[in-house]
Amino acid sequence: MKMQTSNKTVADELQELVHNAFMKALGDRLPESFQATLQRCADPRHGEYQCNDALALAKSCRQAPRLIAQSVQEALPEHPLLKGSEVAGPGFLNFRLEDAALAERVLAQNAASSWGIPQVGAGKTVVMDYSSPNVAKPMHIGHIRSTVIGNALDRLHRACGYHVLADNHLGDWGTQFGLILMGYRNFLNEQALAENPVQELERVYVESYGRSKEDPAWLDAAKQELVKLQQGDAENLALWQKFVELSLSEFEKIYSRLDVRFDLERGESFYNDMLAGVLERLDQAGLLEESDGAQVVNLEEEKLGVCIVQKSDGGFNYATTDIATVLNRKEEFDPETVIYVTDERQQLHFKQFFRVVEQLGVEVNLQHVWFGLMRLPDATFSTRQGNVIKLEALLDEAESRAMALLKESRPDMDPEEQKRVAAAVGIGAVKYADLSQNPQSVITFTWEKALALDGNSAPYLQYAHARIRSVLDKYAVQFPGEDAEASDLELKEDLEHNLAVKLLQYPETVVAATRRMRPNQIADYLFELAQMYSSYHQTIPFLKADDGVRQSRMRLIRRVADVLQAGLKLLGIEAPERI
Ligand code: ARG
Repeated sequence: MKMQTSNKTVADELQELVHNAFMKALGDRLPESFQATLQRCADPRHGEYQCNDALALAKSCRQAPRLIAQSVQEALPEHPLLKGSEVAGPGFLNFRLEDAALAERVLAQNAASSWGIPQVGAGKTVVMDYSSPNVAKPMHIGHIRSTVIGNALDRLHRACGYHVLADNHLGDWGTQFGLILMGYRNFLNEQALAENPVQELERVYVESYGRSKEDPAWLDAAKQELVKLQQGDAENLALWQKFVELSLSEFEKIYSRLDVRFDLERGESFYNDMLAGVLERLDQAGLLEESDGAQVVNLEEEKLGVCIVQKSDGGFNYATTDIATVLNRKEEFDPETVIYVTDERQQLHFKQFFRVVEQLGVEVNLQHVWFGLMRLPDATFSTRQGNVIKLEALLDEAESRAMALLKESRPDMDPEEQKRVAAAVGIGAVKYADLSQNPQSVITFTWEKALALDGNSAPYLQYAHARIRSVLDKYAVQFPGEDAEASDLELKEDLEHNLAVKLLQYPETVVAATRRMRPNQIADYLFELAQMYSSYHQTIPFLKADDGVRQSRMRLIRRVADVLQAGLKLLGIEAPERI
């Protein structure tokens, strides 16, 4: 049984201590809104945390920052966590943490059910709208990014105690279906459909689309098929249903490889019957305007153009569906926040309908997490099908490259295990290449970087993790019957002290990455932890260490392995026991 710990990280505890010292030293000379803030020290020689608030307060408190810092330092009580503090430079306060307290907290943290992560989301619901590919079209690289980033944010929020509803908002309704119906009836290749349904559906769509550009009668017929579908024509509905099912089962294969699961899979069609109601509600709120025969919400004042909610032909828009979706989610789940993950090209769309929802007076926090382009140089694929990069091809290639690496490094591994590990390493590499970058920057994917064993990559972290497990296995063989967990954890070396401090920064890193929606902060953290471990591994004896010391080191490195594994899991990446 894992126990529940207090909802406070080491940084929180220290912050409280320092804040109270400010209050004691300066009392009502402090601005009312004052909150002491701590930063991590860049240089461990100065301590672990620092507070620079004295500098900012100098003016309003009419006192030299160094003097402020000194009086705060004097007001600090003795505390088991605090080894010492010093005033430095123009008025910085540096804090050093006590080893015994660190050791105790490392053990408590890893024994806790939530890894000591403050449950800031307890009692709150978040709807996560991600992946959301379109029916009858293969997932492309933009959807893989939405799936991978969205799923990491999903896991992060769950780790912070949020009640998360992951909803795959499939593009399963819209004008393309008229063309697909026409294409399906006229150009279908049954065998191709059996072999690769989504690809064949896309092909008939492309062909039908091409025909509609040359042949107005074709376009008219497609429009009529669409109207029939929208009016509930049985034959068209049945075909549409088939397209959806074929696509979903194809997407499902990818989700299972990526270890992604949704709580809801409501496509756009789910909201179809609510669209007319949305228009009514907008009208009642006095938000509708006519423009060239279309119904729009005018957002010119906030420089967002106009949001078209009903086209001149009476059809509804992407925005209308999204407004209906928010209204429905609010009513059914009453979420605190809805998070959408898509590429940067949809920014205006989200800004527009977020504003419309606000004008309707709906209270819900809406957030669009957008990501930039991912460049895949031509040489990325040994087999490239067509001009769209297909997600499946990317994953296949990742697994086979990982397999080739494994066959070289671990020819002795059992073939079944080899397959499992190759999948974990290959898929992990693809995910991590994405998640380790700021989502909003343009990134270039290369296999060299994604699979590098010596750089910031998933295989590097997975290898660091497996290396610790293997030390622990050797320990069990060499010292049978010895129970390391019965010994004390003592932080004697600087590297041990630093590792403990780093381990204790895991919970605050998770909360910060969740709040800022930046999975790459977890990646950075794990990379630093793995590098730190690597120096430890190279310089400090483990199995040859003295009795007592040896057990303590085993306890420490086990915690490092556990945190690496848990952190990778937050990114949706598996850490096999052996590589
Ligand atoms: N299906 C859309 C696309 O592929 C993404 C949907 C995103 N979610 C939303 N609620 N609009 O571009």
